Amino acid sequence: MIRPIRKAIFPVAGLGTRFLPATKAQPKEMLPIIDKPIIQFAVEEALAAGITHLIFVIGRTKRSIADHFDSNPELDTALRQKGNHEMADLLNSIVPDSAACIYFRQSEALGLGHAVACAAPVIAPDEPFAVLLADDLMRARTPVLKQMIDCYQQTGRSMVAVEDVAPQAVSSYGIVDADRPGIGQLAAMRGIVEKPARDEAPSTQAVVGRYILDGSIMPLLKAQAPGKGGEIQLTDAIRQLIQTHGVDAFRYEGQRYDCGSKLGFIACTMASALAHPDFGSEVREMMHNMLAQDPPH
Ligand code: G1P
Repeated sequence: MIRPIRKAIFPVAGLGTRFLPATKAQPKEMLPIIDKPIIQFAVEEALAAGITHLIFVIGRTKRSIADHFDSNPELDTALRQKGNHEMADLLNSIVPDSAACIYFRQSEALGLGHAVACAAPVIAPDEPFAVLLADDLMRARTPVLKQMIDCYQQTGRSMVAVEDVAPQAVSSYGIVDADRPGIGQLAAMRGIVEKPARDEAPSTQAVVGRYILDGSIMPLLKAQAPGKGGEIQLTDAIRQLIQTHGVDAFRYEGQRYDCGSKLGFIACTMASALAHPDFGSEVREMMHNMLAQDPPH
């Protein structure tokens, strides 16, 4: 029987050095796209896919993430006293009562694989779970994790989301060895390698930050020696999982914004502003006017 997927791990313990000084005292996942922190987009995607257990693996400066997903009675009272019930209700609905937040602390930044393994105590040995890297912000008609879980219900096999990247970008990603699936389709993976050199990459299909993994990956992660960059790599354990259980590459429908890079963050902000229901058309006009000028101040 194929088990439902109810748990999602959000590794949010990275140092965010690319966004200093903004990330000196707050996690990069709390940087907002207009008025919503990056991490909330990933949480909403997970909730829309039926996830009920939100598992955050946090680091030193990450307390604001726990605060963000907790209730804030003082703010609630203040908003209601001002008659702003709409915002108070919106804040209360970020995490519905039917979902639970669980926090693990990763005391040392030993890599993505290590971060995922920190959540092992709440994952049963044969329990499938999702991993979402909030930096990869997905805009899609059907939330990307839901697309993946819908497929999982047919196959019961682990999968990673992939997209094509430029050949010169392969050294920034996990790269899969698999036939190229059509959009919304799967292809069985023959291998996977973390951040290969351009001439060693098995393809240009890059793993983006969405995974469905079998619980049996946890002991593989625990036993994992440091890999690329001296870090414990999720990719290396996935390569072992291919041998034991099989793993598929899933080509999602949608648009990814790499909010871990400044340019991706700017692109995501611009796209979200242009698509904004209240002021999208004003933003369009504003951009149009700016483009007609010399570089504005
Ligand atoms: C991580 C993974 C990599 C994956 C990428 C997706 O790398 O290690 O395999 O392709 O996320 O965003 P990072 O970007 O954390 O260096």
